[in-house]
Amino acid sequence: MKETNRATFTSKIGMIAAAAGSAVGLGNIWRFPSMTADGGGAVFILVYIGCVLFFGIPVMVAEFIIGRSSKANTTGAFHILAPNTSWKWVGRLGVLTGFVIMGFYMVVCGWTLEYIWQSVSGKLATVTDFSANFAALQQDHLKQTLLMTGFAALTLLFTLSGVRKGVEKSSKIFMPTLFLLLILLGIRSVTLPGAINGLEFLFKPNMEHVKSTVFLDAMGQAFFSLSLGMGCMITYGSYFSDSSNLTKTAIQVSVLDMFVAILAGIVIFPSAFALTSNPDTILDDLINGGPGLLFITLPQLFNEIPLSMLWSSLFFILLAIAAITSTISLLEVVTIYIQEEYKRTRHESAVLVAIGVLVLGTVSSFSPKFFGLLDSVSAEWMLPIGGFFISLFVGWYLDEKLVYAQLTNEGKEKFGIKFLKGYRFILKYLAPLAILAIFVYGLIG
Ligand code: PHE
Repeated sequence: MKETNRATFTSKIGMIAAAAGSAVGLGNIWRFPSMTADGGGAVFILVYIGCVLFFGIPVMVAEFIIGRSSKANTTGAFHILAPNTSWKWVGRLGVLTGFVIMGFYMVVCGWTLEYIWQSVSGKLATVTDFSANFAALQQDHLKQTLLMTGFAALTLLFTLSGVRKGVEKSSKIFMPTLFLLLILLGIRSVTLPGAINGLEFLFKPNMEHVKSTVFLDAMGQAFFSLSLGMGCMITYGSYFSDSSNLTKTAIQVSVLDMFVAILAGIVIFPSAFALTSNPDTILDDLINGGPGLLFITLPQLFNEIPLSMLWSSLFFILLAIAAITSTISLLEVVTIYIQEEYKRTRHESAVLVAIGVLVLGTVSSFSPKFFGLLDSVSAEWMLPIGGFFISLFVGWYLDEKLVYAQLTNEGKEKFGIKFLKGYRFILKYLAPLAILAIFVYGLIG
């Protein structure tokens, strides 16, 4: 907390790449399509976009303000800005949430490693029953545990290289690669004959499949995808330089994140509709796909286009790239917390957290029920609860002058000023009330 030479990101691009790297992840490419299928397509997407605009962006700015003004980890930030109050529990909840998310996220990361291997080795091209192929992986608990351990070790390597060399540099290389690959695959998908049905499912609202939990699901997805509500953006904000514009950065990161999610939808749905051999059941297949959607439907579809090995290898490499910039950020939140609050070295802290994650992840690999529980409890409850308190903290508790200084960089930036009034209104009333309403609706709906 009191370090004098605490790291900051070295450049604006590095800062945006790191924050976008955290946001863009399995949440966009794995979770978003299965939530969209489950939520009935276009209507889910519309509610989702609403959630990003109305409370995603404001809460992200709020987290940046907390992080940059305190220059501390998620819990340390509340100690500094609100000494001797209970606000520190918001930070602690965030650290716990990060830990819980890693407990199932790493398992999916492990799956991506397996599918990279299956694609590159050519094994995937010989599979005939893709559900059985995925089920075999899910039943092989030991393999899942090993794969997850491999991915966690990879993440740890980056974390140990520090904020600049590990976090920032990796994101600067990985993020542009990711965009390029997604755009390529998107073009491939929409140019397939019959792709139009998938585009319709994505973009033409149809109330028939909408569920009563659509708001809760979309809100959880927005928080999850933008890495909000657990202090990840507080931690990254603490590495921002004093001259960066917080509002602009939040808008850029959120728009990028939405863009990637929708691109992922454009890769998955048109190709699913175009290449299915069962047009009558494709909707049900998509809706029932669950966590396996990406790993069952997609490889099956890849196999029906020429150069399938190339496309599937590209796709799963892309998935791993998206995932690692997010696991780096998740590990960073908990590591820097232990490092600063318990005065440990970065090395010790990161290794300790990684071991804890492996324990939780092993239980998830053995129990899909536990896996599902960690997923829904963290995204739909813990993150929005965190977001609720973060809005209240910046909306009501923080000194207005501090908020103003952060938003405008001590009056130097014009961009934040226009935003200020509406922004405070959103954080004071709109975001907390909307989150509450969605909880209540989700409980009784
Ligand atoms: N936003 C990441 C994704 O979309 C997941 C994540 C959540 C990362 C919370 C950090 C904090 O995959």
